Amino acid sequence: MEGRKVTGWAARDSSGILSPYSFNLRKTGPEDVVFKVLYCGVDHTDLHQVRNEIHMTTYPLVPGHEVVGEVIEVGPEVKKFGVGDVVGVGCMVGSCGECTRCKTNKEQYCNNMVFTYNAIYKDGSFTQGGFSSAMIVHQNYVVNIPEKLAPEQAAPLLCAGVTAYSPLKQFIGSKKAIKAGILGLGGVGHLGVLIAKAMGHHVTIISSSDKKREEALTDLGADCFLVSSNSAEMNKLKNSLDYILDTVPVNHQLQDYIPLLDVQGKILVVGAVPEPLQFSASGLILGGASISGSFIGSTQETQEILDFWVEKGLKTKIEVVKMDYVNKAFERMEKNDVRYRFVLDVAGSNLE
Ligand SMILES: NC(=O)c1ccc[n+]([C@@H]2O[C@H](COP(=O)([O-])OP(=O)(O)OC[C@H]3O[C@@H](n4cnc5c(N)ncnc54)[C@H](OP(=O)(O)O)[C@@H]3O)[C@@H](O)[C@H]2O)c1
Ligand SMILES: [Zn+2]
Ligand SMILES: [Zn+2]
Repeated sequence: MEGRKVTGWAARDSSGILSPYSFNLRKTGPEDVVFKVLYCGVDHTDLHQVRNEIHMTTYPLVPGHEVVGEVIEVGPEVKKFGVGDVVGVGCMVGSCGECTRCKTNKEQYCNNMVFTYNAIYKDGSFTQGGFSSAMIVHQNYVVNIPEKLAPEQAAPLLCAGVTAYSPLKQFIGSKKAIKAGILGLGGVGHLGVLIAKAMGHHVTIISSSDKKREEALTDLGADCFLVSSNSAEMNKLKNSLDYILDTVPVNHQLQDYIPLLDVQGKILVVGAVPEPLQFSASGLILGGASISGSFIGSTQETQEILDFWVEKGLKTKIEVVKMDYVNKAFERMEKNDVRYRFVLDVAGSNLE
């Protein structure tokens, strides 16, 4: 059954160009939270998706999965949220709720996890994302935006932030001083730097060019900056890092980075490179290194990173733009020309 009519910006085909599109939300169910979208971050995954690069994309597709909104209606069984609350939604809007993964707060890995957009919801409807005037989401996948956090600041934390936070949590409480590497200084990477620093790690950024060196060392507070094509710089840091958070969205050779790891160091892959990644087995074996993947974080971890941000007094580095700039924002993100996350001012764009 159809609920309220909303206006979003949708891609119609794999050119990935977005334009206005009207559609209906589902009718409000007992545990649903309906909110007016205030801000939405622009993630590289949105670009992969509108271009049909990583999942089979169904069009028209309204992307957006770093969504902050103000609650305008709640179903009768919603206890955690009320009208007027500022809330957030990330990459997922459903999961089975019954498997071990769901029951141990790892529902992002549930085999029946429902993506915020480009997915079929439990009732058979097609999910659409936050580049839209309003959204409806089951309360279990909604988080509270802390009062002390500006909504536009919070948006990138809902995917990029928790994506960096979740794999880095394993180092909390380590007796050893942790030496971190962050590969790729974009949306996820810059939050990775801030989180790793706030966790007390010594942070080295590994970047594809020299362009971001100065601001990375001053504004983001990184300890060290390497350009991946500079072999002299790379050699100096050989065998030094405990982990490398790999956020690069395009194909690259993992074996160029494995030598930077200390013994039994870890490559933590979060970049969703469309092609298969390659590495030399001997490089991995000889250092006892491992490569692991990580996908966003649970709803609980998403709440944790928001609270962590307030507790540590961190600041997201964003560029706020209106919805009619979104195609330009994609173009600039692809050219690696954003410091470091575009956030769409959805409510200020008068979509309806
Ligand atoms: N695992 C998950 O749950 C998850 C969650 C969110 C995003 N992702 C994925 O993580 C990746 C990064 O997302 P993002 O939003 O952070 O992307 P982004 O803002 O575009 O940043 C990517 C960074 O990678 C580096 N890079 C190196 N070569 C590049 C090239 N040829 N083109 C573009 N960038 C290049 C750039 O940093 P330098 O200038 O420093 O080289 C760039 O800033 C994407 O693949 C995205 O789909 C995964
Ligand atoms: Zn499940
Ligand atoms: Zn994302």
